[in-house]
Amino acid sequence: MITPKIGKFALTAALGMVLALGASPAQAAQPAPLAPPAKAVAKPQPWWTHAVIYEIYPRSFQDTNGDGIGDLNGVTRRLDYLRDLGVDAIWLTPFYPSPNADFGYDVSDYTAVAPEYGTMADWDRLTREARKRGIRVLVDLVLNHSSDQHPWFRESRSSRSNPKRDWYVWHDPAPDGGPPTNWQSIFGGSTWEYDKPTGQYYYHIFLKEQPDLNWANPGLQKAMHDVARFWLNHGASGFRLDATPYLFEDTNWPQDPDVKSGAPVGLKPYNSNLPATRAALRGLRKVVDSFPGERVLLGENAISSIADLRKVYGAKGDEINLPMDFLYKDVAGLNASAFKARIDEAELKLDGLPPVFHFSNHDTPRQWGRFGDGRHNDRIARITAAMTLTLRGTALMYYGEEIGMPDLAPDELRGIPLGPKRKVADNRDPERSPMQWRAGKGAGFTTGEPWLPVGRSAASVNVEDQRADKGSLYHWYARLLQLRKTNAAMRSGAYIPLESGNAQVLAYARRDAAGNGVLVLLNMSGQPQTLSISGWPDRVPVSGGMLMSSEPGAVMDWQRPVLEPFGVRLVGFKGG
Ligand code: GLC
Repeated sequence: MITPKIGKFALTAALGMVLALGASPAQAAQPAPLAPPAKAVAKPQPWWTHAVIYEIYPRSFQDTNGDGIGDLNGVTRRLDYLRDLGVDAIWLTPFYPSPNADFGYDVSDYTAVAPEYGTMADWDRLTREARKRGIRVLVDLVLNHSSDQHPWFRESRSSRSNPKRDWYVWHDPAPDGGPPTNWQSIFGGSTWEYDKPTGQYYYHIFLKEQPDLNWANPGLQKAMHDVARFWLNHGASGFRLDATPYLFEDTNWPQDPDVKSGAPVGLKPYNSNLPATRAALRGLRKVVDSFPGERVLLGENAISSIADLRKVYGAKGDEINLPMDFLYKDVAGLNASAFKARIDEAELKLDGLPPVFHFSNHDTPRQWGRFGDGRHNDRIARITAAMTLTLRGTALMYYGEEIGMPDLAPDELRGIPLGPKRKVADNRDPERSPMQWRAGKGAGFTTGEPWLPVGRSAASVNVEDQRADKGSLYHWYARLLQLRKTNAAMRSGAYIPLESGNAQVLAYARRDAAGNGVLVLLNMSGQPQTLSISGWPDRVPVSGGMLMSSEPGAVMDWQRPVLEPFGVRLVGFKGG
């Protein structure tokens, strides 16, 4: 049933809420047939095309033996929590044996568990228990480099003729005896480290304790495939691939004309995304696909455009299943137009492949503080959550995001002595602080001395309190995750871009194959905003109900829709 239009909205009281979006008055007079929804998904898609993957920094999630360092048994202990929250999978950052120059991203044994995190038996139990709860577990695979303490590197550096010499990237000095090129590493300083006994330099795009593996060497490639097989045989559902752009270097070793000595650099044509990367990732994907059960590759890929991101999926979708969209993560500030541009572009240019949206991770300040204005952080956190979790594709969450855990403030870190638990200070410490399970000493994370301080915010920001409060951010997340599971449009429906008629308001819809769906309205400003939505692809009578609202019980005047400051609406609609 269609009623006369008022502005761009129409309403009938009889149907509760009925909207006609974007139809002109002339169109309103003559009912038009419903167009088939764009990109309707007919058959069930693999789980990873619409999953929520929760990143756990195991060191900071749950300690079970009182040493102040989280462990695998801690993750197992919290599986019921993760199931109740509603995540589909967890990604664990490295728990391999490591000298911890880069907290596990310097791997000294790829097929073992570091004693500080537990044992292989603990790992096996974790995956078994996770499976019982319908949760998959992804391992962080550090492909680009190992630790300089890895036996492979020890062998490689032992002599120029060692069979593993070529498993790493070695080069003769420049004629003046200096480094072969002027390239700078991501963590600062030259990418080259001189090895006196063998008279050559080795290459490292990250720390000097993280020598780059040579992916051009078939033996190394096979060894890495065997590492993948090891974890897949031990119940892993796939991998988060670390630092994939850097697997190959331009072996013409050009000088970088831009380099200012000592200045950190990022992606350069000579250090990243070399063509050989594509084939190497396809090779790894084949290994993963040869295992049953829809295993998956989630990729960390610094990219500078959507066109670059599209390449990472592989021309035939045969490389990384889920490359992270860092362009969305890096949008500066709460800006509806900037988000619309990013999201629409991903939808338009990724050929329908699942985008991977997220904001926070172990390398990036948490979204709570990044988007929060210091006064409305809780409301703003509901916007960023609602957006990421109602978009098509796969969403990543970072532990603690669901309760609005803030980063540690500088004064909370000041004066903390370095010791066996934290040998190096890291500028990413603030976003890696222990999970805040409850108020009180140790915050339910540890009974011992935590390796990083527990945030003082734990007194008021913790899981226990928020689970007891139905109006909390935790429950907002849990309801969003529930909606993703139970609502077909939210799960796998098409994304319908809309114009909100207001630069402060992001509006879009998700629509399933039957034409039913969810309208999403997000006011990204601290002022009330009036909307006038257009862009609906066809004349669609809309009825449904308020699925979620930042103002519980609020009734919207659909004849003159206004969103309150930082307001969120998720409105159900039914196709004609
Ligand atoms: C990735 C990881 C980061 C690590 C780096 C080197 O960017 O996310 O934590 O330091 O790779 O392995």
